[in-house]
Amino acid sequence: MSSLDLIKAPIIEEMRKFEPIFKSSMKSKHKLLNIIINYIIRSKGKQLRPMVVFLSARMQGKTNKSTYHAAALIELMHTATLIHDDIVDEAFKRRGLFSINALWKNKVSVLVGDYLLAKGLLLAVDNDEFDLLRIVSLSVKEMSEGELLQIEKSRKLDISEEIYFEIIRKKTASLISSCAAIGAKSVGADDDIVEKMKQFGENLGIAFQIKDDIFDYQKNNIIGKPTGNDLKEQKLTLPVIYALDNATNSEKRKIINNIKNHNKETKKVREVIDFAVKNKGLEYSTQKMNEYKNKAIEILKEFPESEAKISLIKLSEFVADRKK
Ligand code: IPE
Ligand code: IPE
Ligand code: MG
Ligand code: MG
Repeated sequence: MSSLDLIKAPIIEEMRKFEPIFKSSMKSKHKLLNIIINYIIRSKGKQLRPMVVFLSARMQGKTNKSTYHAAALIELMHTATLIHDDIVDEAFKRRGLFSINALWKNKVSVLVGDYLLAKGLLLAVDNDEFDLLRIVSLSVKEMSEGELLQIEKSRKLDISEEIYFEIIRKKTASLISSCAAIGAKSVGADDDIVEKMKQFGENLGIAFQIKDDIFDYQKNNIIGKPTGNDLKEQKLTLPVIYALDNATNSEKRKIINNIKNHNKETKKVREVIDFAVKNKGLEYSTQKMNEYKNKAIEILKEFPESEAKISLIKLSEFVADRKK
């Protein structure tokens, strides 16, 4: 059994019921949209976010209709933002297949992302889930701010470790922390518990994005999306930020020049990767990732024992150890 199957074991019924709800939440009568939606359905991801919603709910009570609405809304928002992210990052692979922008180009992809965002809004409004809508809308707003701050920094190439953490907290951890919070809230947990679960999700989300950024330094492409793409897009992530902070001025100038003026040349990008590796950027990032993962697990330990809690601990370990 894979580690994801083990994690899912206590919520296997929920994940099974979630599938058709999620699919029908995207459906359209429009021909082109339906072709693309079917393509998205075939290329489903790990569905970590719905898992966090259900496990967090199960830790605090019994899942109900609202829990399913939350899981579907969040996976819709996640899918929409990935479609937009691949346009922004000019990435042509996603989940081992061609990205939507690679197949249908940017104009169609922008609109499909918008369509999914709108379907998410409708799902919440049609079911009177206004608390849910408020929490998730706030996260999607933060995701946009995080992605924009990242673009701003990739233009100036002056990103500090502090700003890096602000970016990933907004663009990734915010939505994952909403998953944990809304899962607990959907089963009527008290505000202080919802807040604790939110903190758990935030730490988990930060660890998750650091791992994703480490993946980009991998040579072989086994994660189903491009590697080496962040530097090509002039996106400075933790491994290279740390390496730059610990380099001589002349080394720094050379590396920044490679990223600024030679970012589409494989050999020059390779030099930057080698520089980050040589200066212990990956070791440092792994250490930071583990710190956040451990903080997440510490928060869970405050709760009574349960199958769902064990799964969330396993899921936190998975985020750090995963191969994709
Ligand atoms: C990818 O998220 C986007 C990031 C926040 C790094 P996932 O790795 O959860 O994507 P899927 O849904 O499993 O493809
Ligand atoms: C996360 O950043 C994207 C979002 C939060 C939408 P990345 O750009 O690193 O994600 P991947 O690597 O493309 O999945
Ligand atoms: Mg991207
Ligand atoms: Mg990435």
